[in-house]
Amino acid sequence: MESGCIYCIDDDEDILLLYKIVLGQAGHEVVTFLSGKEALKIVEKQNPNLIILDEKMRNDISGMEICKRIRKNKKIPYIPIIMVTALEDKQGKIRSLEEGIDDYILKPFDHEELLAKVMVMLRIKRLYMDLLKTRQDLVHAEKLAAVGQLAAAMAHEIRNPLSIINASVQFLKGKLHLEKEGREVMETVLRKITQIDGTIRELLVAARPMKFKQQAMDINKNAREVVGFIKEKCQAQEVELQLELEDSISEVMGEEEHLQRVFLNLFINALNSMSAGGILKVATQEEEDSIKITVEDNGLGIYEDDIEHLFEPFFSKQAGGSGLGLFVVKMIVDEFKGTIQVNSTVGQGTKFTITLPAIQKKKLKPI
Ligand SMILES: Nc1ncnc2c1ncn2[C@@H]1O[C@H](COP(=O)(O)OP(=O)(O)OP(=O)(O)O)[C@@H](O)[C@H]1O
Ligand SMILES: [Mg+2]
Repeated sequence: MESGCIYCIDDDEDILLLYKIVLGQAGHEVVTFLSGKEALKIVEKQNPNLIILDEKMRNDISGMEICKRIRKNKKIPYIPIIMVTALEDKQGKIRSLEEGIDDYILKPFDHEELLAKVMVMLRIKRLYMDLLKTRQDLVHAEKLAAVGQLAAAMAHEIRNPLSIINASVQFLKGKLHLEKEGREVMETVLRKITQIDGTIRELLVAARPMKFKQQAMDINKNAREVVGFIKEKCQAQEVELQLELEDSISEVMGEEEHLQRVFLNLFINALNSMSAGGILKVATQEEEDSIKITVEDNGLGIYEDDIEHLFEPFFSKQAGGSGLGLFVVKMIVDEFKGTIQVNSTVGQGTKFTITLPAIQKKKLKPI
């Protein structure tokens, strides 16, 4: 039998107790609310499997109003709603069904009928969630396929001429006797070529299933190396770098170059959000069997609605951004068997937390 989390909303405590007993005995988790307004606040965050609500509640919004607000709120996915009513009012019922109620129960209710209707509604909710997941998987798979095709085509079209440009500029650099200014321009050109080549390689990483060299990596050393790449940029943007790397932490398994890519993407994103200066804090810390890495900025922050899309390919709000950086970061962290989390507040800043499994340090054998 289906079981699930059911919210029961009624202004009568005795009825709520009855729900707890009848539905609880049938294996459901029951959360009761005396007020519709209170329930509404929590529904958005918790996403229950079913709501049972009283049609008329004293000193509170009506059951129909609660239903309307739930259906109108785009953040709340579909939740079946059963309305409990004392009256056999055919026209009223039809109207309410049109407005979003899924089924009715007449008061005083029959326990068996209640349980049967609850079972049907929970089944519908499960099917809905399955469908939603399948749709999300499909969209994700389509995006992945698009990234793959695009990456292969771009790599071919751009990388070859780019390597020729690179070789030609290197040649000219050796041949020409340039003034300081000219030499600097030449260096900038070469740096930009390397940057473009890096972006293309990123696309290829995103497109291909990655084959990792598995090696023990020193996270702190890796972080320091990448910090070295961005030092100048930090100075230019008046961003203060704070490193809080815990001494002699355990190593983690993975590939150095990929870990560098993770750091670089997170650092560059942080810098992009702090064009008017700020603080970039990088910390590592050993926890029980894992290493926690945090990269924190006090830049622009990210809107709540954007957070769920951050790791999707092509999601970008950065002028000129390809939206592949965090997608690649997530792929790499997944391959390292780790997790990544984001906390962000608009106007205050963003913190990425990565947790990677630590290689257990060899314990000294007792003599
Ligand atoms: N630290 C951050 N602060 C504010 N916004 C961020 C931060 N990190 C990521 N974002 C947002 O997430 C989006 C996606 O980041 P992602 O690194 O995937 O792509 P991008 O930076 O736009 O392009 P690129 O592929 O060149 O990295 C960014 O466009 C930006 O809007
Ligand atoms: Mg980026």
